[in-house]
Amino acid sequence: MDISAATVIAAKRDGAALSAAQLQHFAQGLVDGSWADSQVAALAMAIVLRGMNTDETVVLTSAMTHSGEVLQWGGAGLHGPVLDKHSTGGVGDKVSLMLAPTVAACGGVVPMISGRGLGHTGGTLDKLEALPGYRCNVDHASLLAALRSAGCAIVGASAQVAPADRRLYAIRDVTATVESVPLITASILSKKLAAGLQGLVLDVKVGSGAFMASLPEAQTLAQSLVAVANGAGLSARALITDMNQVLGHSTGNALEVQEALDFLTGRRQEPRLLSLTLDLAAQLLHMGGLVPTPAQGRQLAQRALDTGAAAERFARMVTALGGPPDVLRDAQLPTAPVQRPVPAPRDGVLSRTNVRALGQCVVQLGGGRSRPGDAVDSRVGLSAVLPLHTPVQAGQPVAIVHAASEASAEQACRDVLAACGWVELGGEDAAAISANPVLQRLGD
Ligand code: URA
Repeated sequence: MDISAATVIAAKRDGAALSAAQLQHFAQGLVDGSWADSQVAALAMAIVLRGMNTDETVVLTSAMTHSGEVLQWGGAGLHGPVLDKHSTGGVGDKVSLMLAPTVAACGGVVPMISGRGLGHTGGTLDKLEALPGYRCNVDHASLLAALRSAGCAIVGASAQVAPADRRLYAIRDVTATVESVPLITASILSKKLAAGLQGLVLDVKVGSGAFMASLPEAQTLAQSLVAVANGAGLSARALITDMNQVLGHSTGNALEVQEALDFLTGRRQEPRLLSLTLDLAAQLLHMGGLVPTPAQGRQLAQRALDTGAAAERFARMVTALGGPPDVLRDAQLPTAPVQRPVPAPRDGVLSRTNVRALGQCVVQLGGGRSRPGDAVDSRVGLSAVLPLHTPVQAGQPVAIVHAASEASAEQACRDVLAACGWVELGGEDAAAISANPVLQRLGD
């Protein structure tokens, strides 16, 4: 039977599973323009409403992966398994900045293709660009040079990586068709598979600051990601992790890079951030065959942090990609002209935070984008964010706002307080709160 865009759309509209040929026709049409935007949007909506099974999602993911360049590392003079992590996005999630150099210091090779902020969540590329001179858009030769020097390189996707996803994502973004587990799965994995990885760990966030607000939703996405990655030939595991509070103690681009530097150099390591970094590293080192058990991976990663080997890798990566030559001692990060503590309104215990609202507060300060292509102000954000279940007295700061103007600082202070929930002192059991943000692990 002849395949056309209209017959594929009709088949999915009527609830059929699409054949490999139909899905490949779609992926091809995304790249060569033979599918119009209206047809792409119609199929995306049909998939949102009717779903796709794992086999369909594997075929679509592979077709989107092969819509562009698929990186291959054999013969590139890199020694070690090629490994990476993907996070579904959170607030204050700067784990990539410490994880990539830690895994590199333990013998892995980490070509980390990262993204920009999306909605209320921050993006690793925006964070790194707070470092003067750091280049995220590099050609293959520069990526290879950084990997040879540091063992890790955090960069953006080139236009040649998964171009089918690039077009599909842009259309989904404006047609209310982002919220589909199979489409999210194919989108994330097509880019990761195109990076030529041998092992991938997925950090699926759940909570008020995540795209997946409930545990069942996060489990469904995590299961889909692991099953489809495995189906496409990539070894993958997923951790479902808590995003009901800011990860670490800061959010905002330059502030998060400073926190990462303090973490790597041992000046300050927020316990939840440390725990998650070690857990993700443990999975990657185990998947890469660098250690016999994840527990030994955790120890190896801890040693890489304690000895400064991970910090050294980070510094080498920054230098190789055009950033400050002595980033561990002089990061040259910009600072905001206005810094204002947000005083607690009363005695009590910080019992919950609306993390999405805190992320949006940083966007409003100028640290994220309201429209694609907006410039970001890397100086702004929140630091010294109080962890949940901390007892405070009236007037004690719950965070420090970093802003470009007095007026925006004023508004941000109000937004932070509106995002905080309080209970009476003694009304909460602080001891029940774990420093381990990992809720569940999936994968082989
Ligand atoms: N991130 C992606 O890369 N794709 C999606 O569809 C959603 C989040």
